[in-house]
Amino acid sequence: MTQLPAAQKQSPLKPSDSGRALYGGKGTRRITVRDITAAKERGEKWPMLTAYDAATASVFDEAGVPVLLVGDSAGNCHLGYDTTVPVTLDEMTMLSAAVVRGTSRALIVGDLPFGSYQEGPVQALRSATRLVKEAGVGAVKLEGGERSHRQIELLVESGIPVMAHIGLTPQSVNAMGYRVQGRGEEAAQQLLRDAKAVQDAGAFAVVLELVPAELAAEVTRTLQIPTVGIGAGAGTDAQVLVWTDMLGLTSGRVPKFVKRYADLRTVMGDAVRAFAEDVVGGTFPQEEHSVH
Ligand code: KIV
Repeated sequence: MTQLPAAQKQSPLKPSDSGRALYGGKGTRRITVRDITAAKERGEKWPMLTAYDAATASVFDEAGVPVLLVGDSAGNCHLGYDTTVPVTLDEMTMLSAAVVRGTSRALIVGDLPFGSYQEGPVQALRSATRLVKEAGVGAVKLEGGERSHRQIELLVESGIPVMAHIGLTPQSVNAMGYRVQGRGEEAAQQLLRDAKAVQDAGAFAVVLELVPAELAAEVTRTLQIPTVGIGAGAGTDAQVLVWTDMLGLTSGRVPKFVKRYADLRTVMGDAVRAFAEDVVGGTFPQEEHSVH
């Protein structure tokens, strides 16, 4: 019998008659957007994490995380840029391919970076096709509600599942900054219009970033597609975090909505210092680390 990773064995969730649970369900085939849709119908909550390379993606996959986003947050979290804006489609293709290679079960969603879809639907299709054909992702993500609905429509018509992203959209940082979105009646109505627009265009899910919890819950009740919250309270169908934030690898301040589940920066720093001291002090390598 195939051994399930510990996280899956311990899960209280059982697959229901209408399909397997996204987290903790049995089965080793890759999760598809149809599984995501079925989870909303069952009222099931699910986790999503970012991933940028094969090694860490394989850890998240073995832990049973059903959806991994190769986010363009790779810009600040993995590639050393200040924002997501400079990230290129070549970089996203390379990172997405690595994450696909490192996993066997999770649905991999590849982010379309700034400048790869804003010109219009045809440019969006060309860019998304690269992520699907060259990297092997099962879906793509792009930012924008009403303003991106034509791009979403063409991708979905062409057979490419789309996760939309509304609220704070970091690719627009130069225009909107990093501020809570949807505060006040007018902004809330715009967010609801954006949410309906991406659903009507055929998106299978929508990320809600940094919006008031009550508004995110209202969007979640209104939509048939799942909402994935980040800084959007507890009322969404799924939750996503940037992995370097939630595992404590990010240096400096992290947003208030992040819960830190580990302190990898300290763990790694201590281990590296121990190695360096062993080398300098002549206690590494020892006989058992040597070949003859
Ligand atoms: O790029 C990213 O990691 C994202 C998430 C924050 C949703 O868009």
